[in-house]
Amino acid sequence: MYVCLCKGVSDHKIRATVEDGARSWREVQCETGCATQCGKCASVAKAITRDAIRSE
Ligand code: FES
Repeated sequence: MYVCLCKGVSDHKIRATVEDGARSWREVQCETGCATQCGKCASVAKAITRDAIRSE
């Protein structure tokens, strides 16, 4: 599902970014552009990032 509509970032994309080596929300944000426009997706995107990092 899409987490970030502004930038077209899905939960899958966030998890794939962590699998590819991102180790923080900042890195995921830089890599995907997630939450860099309206910012409404930030809390959900951060939670998915935390979960993905934890399960690495
Ligand atoms: Fe992610 Fe707007 S929905 S920045």
